[in-house]
Amino acid sequence: MNHKKNPLNNFTSADLSYQQNSLCFSQVSLEALARTHHTPLFVYSLDQINTNVLNYKEAFAGMKSRICYAVKANSSLAILRFLTLHDIGFDIVSGGELSQVLAVGADPANIVYSGVGKTVSEIDFALHQSIGCFNIESLQELYCINQRAKALNVYARVSLRINPEVSLKTHKYIATGKRENKFGISLRDAQSLLEKSASNDASLTNIKIVGVGAHIGSQIISVSPYRSSFAALCKLAIQAISLQLPIEHIDVGGGLGIRYNNEKIITPKVLAQELFAQLKSVKNAKTLSNITLILEPGRSLIGNCGVLLTKVLYTKQKINKREGFAIVDAGMNDLIRPALYQGYHHTMPVLYKNAIKKTWDIVGPVCESGDFLSLQQRLALAPDDIIALLNVGAYGMSMSSNYNTRLRAKEVAIYNGATSIIREREVISDLLKHDHWQHISI
Ligand code: LLP
Repeated sequence: MNHKKNPLNNFTSADLSYQQNSLCFSQVSLEALARTHHTPLFVYSLDQINTNVLNYKEAFAGMKSRICYAVKANSSLAILRFLTLHDIGFDIVSGGELSQVLAVGADPANIVYSGVGKTVSEIDFALHQSIGCFNIESLQELYCINQRAKALNVYARVSLRINPEVSLKTHKYIATGKRENKFGISLRDAQSLLEKSASNDASLTNIKIVGVGAHIGSQIISVSPYRSSFAALCKLAIQAISLQLPIEHIDVGGGLGIRYNNEKIITPKVLAQELFAQLKSVKNAKTLSNITLILEPGRSLIGNCGVLLTKVLYTKQKINKREGFAIVDAGMNDLIRPALYQGYHHTMPVLYKNAIKKTWDIVGPVCESGDFLSLQQRLALAPDDIIALLNVGAYGMSMSSNYNTRLRAKEVAIYNGATSIIREREVISDLLKHDHWQHISI
């Protein structure tokens, strides 16, 4: 195949290439992996994660910063472990995610806890572990955390997550920093909380405000919403410092987009340059010189590090059309992004055939018309062929389900040319064991 014309360049920077017509990921043949481990199969390149982590670290090396990976993007323990070994912190949103990152040896001090609905038991769990901070999403939550900290005789470190009310060009389900979104507190509430905290208000006896932050959305491909959000955060941090509050960080959230379909994206470096320039230009810039920047990337750290391999079961012609349906063995339960957000995942055959191409809708076996994985793909396909869906490292496996009583896929990881299994395919007994039905009678 002519590498100059490699269509992969339009879709991903990940480590994919055809070698003698066989698609390789980090130099490992995907056809061989699919035949050994069967399909559907998630394959990750830890080498690519390595590259992405280094890119982030390099981009933000100019100032004190900490990367807290958003666990929701992919919570496979092997990936969390790999990131821990790279000294990456974590952004979690549940007690379950806290258990996962602790299990792989994360330092609790590098954990930030976001999410609008933290329960009392989750709050207690996080307080017992002395996590880095709670990202506060409502006033009631803050007061609840204060009460729990008081009851446990500890201080809770918190960061105020504001809703900066910025508009964003992304799918509406993944915008989080608009006025109508449920996330964060208003700028005005944040300002009055800072004042309350500085005057030792009785409602905040066991609270230490250590940061301010925002997360404005996901798959963001322009710098301007970050610019507006960061301006508001700098102002708030300066107010906190002038009130003598021990503010340590500004959390800019995650959200950087990746190239699913030839989008012009912004790199961590471009974001870093923007934030640095802004920090330098704020009034009283010196006051912020000790601030640590926290970043919460998910997709931009691991999105391009995963592919989903699936086998064509059957093909059929669309009624009265030349185009066809390719029915594959992965479905919306394995990858819900196309159905939920009209997400685009490009497909590539793992063995390149010099045969006539046709337009296919790649659809799954689930009984829903919304069960499609990739539409209008130009491929030469036949039953038993394996195809790879690209850029599924983030929000692929972590959003998978057992819908239609389908078993969740196996996961393997490649590192330094070697492949290892990181999660077994589910078996039916995994699902049946949770049900109680024997006592049902009529
Ligand atoms: N921080 C917070 C508080 C978040 O809610 C999120 C993602 C992130 C960080 C990481 O954002 P990222 O860097 O990955 O864009 N399932 C959707 C994306 C949902 C994002 C939810 N929050 C999708 O598949 O597109």
